[in-house]
Amino acid sequence: MVMFKKQYDELATKVNDYLRITLDSMKKYPKIIFDSMEYSLFAGGKRLRPVMLLASHKLLEGDLEESLPLAGGLEMIHTYSLVHDDLPAMDNDDFRRGVPTNHKVFGEGIAILCGDALLNLAYETMIDNALRRPEKLINHLNAINTIAKAAGIRGMIGGQVVDLENEGKDIDPDILQYIHEHKTGALFMASLKASIMLEDPPENISKALLEYGKSLGLAFQIIDDILDVVGDDKKLGKMTGRDREKDKATYVDKYGLEKSWSIAKELCDNAIAQISIFGPEGEFFIQLANFIIDRHN
Ligand code: IPE
Ligand code: IPE
Ligand code: MG
Ligand code: MG
Ligand code: MG
Repeated sequence: MVMFKKQYDELATKVNDYLRITLDSMKKYPKIIFDSMEYSLFAGGKRLRPVMLLASHKLLEGDLEESLPLAGGLEMIHTYSLVHDDLPAMDNDDFRRGVPTNHKVFGEGIAILCGDALLNLAYETMIDNALRRPEKLINHLNAINTIAKAAGIRGMIGGQVVDLENEGKDIDPDILQYIHEHKTGALFMASLKASIMLEDPPENISKALLEYGKSLGLAFQIIDDILDVVGDDKKLGKMTGRDREKDKATYVDKYGLEKSWSIAKELCDNAIAQISIFGPEGEFFIQLANFIIDRHN
């Protein structure tokens, strides 16, 4: 566990440094948009998706300098999704990552533009990196395409749309699963698939990694639903009880706490089972699944 924490922190630090350098390399005008981007990016997220991208690239024996811009881009996309998710027109939340939400500080107009700017900067960053690597251009285009699709209408945005449409409704279990696999699972899977696109591993290796990402992504969102009920606002850095207030379609609402917990646990066990193919090298991913099931933030 100590070893896991150390490895996790090392990868998260790489991501933080990369994001810092990327923003600092730009002329910060208009200042307010940079202030709002930095505010949300550096408010202290877990960096789970970019850490997963780097860890799986490492597992596939890739060069992390090559994948770091993809990891940074993925975190920009995730952060944009949170800024927009918190807007009054969506979940209407006042706290995120332990601080007031972006629109509470900068206003709704700038928060919308901040999300747009982060989304766009993600692609600028990832495409610049691809252009610097003509020998692996096709691999990089495939990795960027993977992330674009996962963030788009067939992925995260699709899930967010169905989430919004179903507030206040008692929905079919399949639709609930669709919401969670798309609004959250898609970026989890993309983090692993991007590294697969860079290194072209054998079929059984990519299959195991993608199955891991699929199970863990769904488990992560089920636990997010659970933490909204039993979690601690301070540790989470966001207000609890919001899903019930908004009458959101959640696993807790559909199945109750206990059953949701056992579904999440089973998904985590399934994720861990996939990793046996890697032998001792897969230890980080086993610990990561345990970290996600035991998390309080
Ligand atoms: C929050 O994601 C949004 C969900 C998909 C539940 P995280 O819990 O990974 O948020 P940060 O990045 O650590 O703030
Ligand atoms: C958010 O799901 C998923 C995305 C932002 C894409 P939630 O709305 O449940 O996330 P929280 O609880 O606000 O972090
Ligand atoms: Mg939401
Ligand atoms: Mg929300
Ligand atoms: Mg939530």
